[in-house]
Amino acid sequence: MTALSSDDLTKLQHKADHSLAQVTTSRQLEEWRVTYIGRKGLVPKLLRTVKDLPAKKRRLLGQQANELRSRLEQQYQLKQAVLRRDRDAVPLPVKQAVPLTKLSGMPQPGHLHPLTITLRAIQDIFASLGFMVVEGPLVEEPEYNFDLLNIPPQHPTRAETDTFYLTDGHILRTQTSAMQVRVVREQQLSPPFRLLFPGRVFRAERTDATHETTFYQFEGLVVASAISVADLKGTIEVFYSRFFNKAAQVRLRPSYFPFVEPGYEVDLQCVFCTGKGCRICKHTGWLEVMGAGMVHPVVLRNMNIDPEAYSGFAFGGAVDRLAMLQHSIDDIRLFWSGSLDFLKQFS
Ligand code: FA5
Repeated sequence: MTALSSDDLTKLQHKADHSLAQVTTSRQLEEWRVTYIGRKGLVPKLLRTVKDLPAKKRRLLGQQANELRSRLEQQYQLKQAVLRRDRDAVPLPVKQAVPLTKLSGMPQPGHLHPLTITLRAIQDIFASLGFMVVEGPLVEEPEYNFDLLNIPPQHPTRAETDTFYLTDGHILRTQTSAMQVRVVREQQLSPPFRLLFPGRVFRAERTDATHETTFYQFEGLVVASAISVADLKGTIEVFYSRFFNKAAQVRLRPSYFPFVEPGYEVDLQCVFCTGKGCRICKHTGWLEVMGAGMVHPVVLRNMNIDPEAYSGFAFGGAVDRLAMLQHSIDDIRLFWSGSLDFLKQFS
């Protein structure tokens, strides 16, 4: 037998890569393991020949052969995980399967979904104002979505008629506010900070032209010393001015959210009629655009922040509603309709 060389190792790696790429079942994967890394497999066999090499080569090739073995073991584990994931994936019901044979001809160039375009525009504006953009889990623990936000157990929003519960006690988050305490705790943030939480939320709602069961929110959280309602109002006005590219006016109406005090509904002067009254603002001159308020001391404490030393504001609006205003879309359900006639207008 000729002496082992680095070339042999490279060839063996390529051979193993190639045959692993063909593996589609657990049985084939087991055969692959036995062939390459099993006790009597090619790699251990090769490792046994290392001891016969001249001392000069022995160290280097021994090291390379060991590396090859651990690389192949890693590849084996990865493939095992992929096969397990594929096996556990819920198959698409046959009725809904996509008839691929019908997709003939040249591929059509794609483009971003209108909600993605709006979401990115929002993120860009807040990023330019010094906000750090942080995404979070859609499947959430009720503590973050409710309890730590000062929402008591008996609050109606927690009912199964409003919130989707999973069998393991988790929920689909109903608001991006769930990120407030989660991120500050997890990242051990201390003030000052400016954060933006964009993302999907879910509500057990009857859908209509302005309500979906799944929609996107964007939420801001700012905590520092001596933050006031004026900072909240100013930030929101700057945001809407940049978003609509014209001077925006905002008014705050008292409202109630358990995690802020005081709390507000934010109205934006109608960007279509500049407050004169039109069909879009239902002749009120104002558009209700988001909820907001000063972070409640209980919530600050849940973030391990001293409410005597710091204050903050938070606001949360729907990306979908903003995209509707931006493009004069009168039915929120169009976004999820999958209608190409609708989507193509945003290319
Ligand atoms: C909230 O979700 C609060 N978390 C907002 C907030 C954040 C208040 C921080 C205070 C501080 P609300 O449930 O009102 O609030 O929803 C916020 C916005 O989402 C609403 O203004 C509305 O524009 C939009 N919205 C609410 N429900 C739906 C729905 N089913 N479909 C589409 N948009 C919705």
